[in-house]
Amino acid sequence: MEVLGIDIGGTGIKGAPVDIASGKLTSERFRLSTPEGARPEEVAQTVRAIVHHFSWHGRIGAAMPVRVRDGIALTASNIDSSWIGTNIEELFSRVTDSDVVTLNDADAAGYAEIHYGAGKGVSGKTLVLTFGTGIGSSLFVGSTLVPNIELGHVRMHNTIAEAWTANSARKRENLSWEDWADRLQEYLSYIEFLFDPELIILGGGVSRPKRVRRFFHLLRTTARLAPAHFQNEAGIIGAACAAHSRKP
Ligand code: BGC
Repeated sequence: MEVLGIDIGGTGIKGAPVDIASGKLTSERFRLSTPEGARPEEVAQTVRAIVHHFSWHGRIGAAMPVRVRDGIALTASNIDSSWIGTNIEELFSRVTDSDVVTLNDADAAGYAEIHYGAGKGVSGKTLVLTFGTGIGSSLFVGSTLVPNIELGHVRMHNTIAEAWTANSARKRENLSWEDWADRLQEYLSYIEFLFDPELIILGGGVSRPKRVRRFFHLLRTTARLAPAHFQNEAGIIGAACAAHSRKP
């Protein structure tokens, strides 16, 4: 069984068919730039182009940096605000003539880790935190998702956590890995206090093995801490997996 997974971000839109049994891509991933402004109709046309690229007929999962309930975007971070109130599932299903399931990108990354990656087989509470332009978060109890939590937006240092601790903050402020790890430690301690997870998986670009070696040893948590198994493909794999799990 294969499902087409699509990951929609502020700069790129990537897709690939995913084998649901193994969580592996069955074709090389295809990427197009996010259209200028990232407005719904233009993004939908790019999604359509990806679907055509694979001559896809069948179920599709799409991940986006928005909170989604019943297919409708409730928030929009790092993407055009006209998404708020848009019925994404209806829009994408119409332009692709397929059955499309949408979810938050961090929830998708969490799906990938819990089903095929660093959280496979765990039974307790797992938090998956992704560090990129923003901070994405997903919470699982066993393999059940508690959807739409936004832990990148908790208040810290008179701003929101993602403005202080995301990977973009490290780059923007030219922080050393040690200085960034100090911020990350403060953030993780706070989140751990609020949620008491058994496992925390850190994902996004910072979870590449070469980068993990720079800061992981500096962090102290009560929960087991693990780097994500997936980086660039997490959204694609997780979106496909979530779409497969949703009853038609
Ligand atoms: C958004 C989240 C998203 C995360 C990663 C945050 O700014 O609020 O919904 O998961 O960025 O893209």
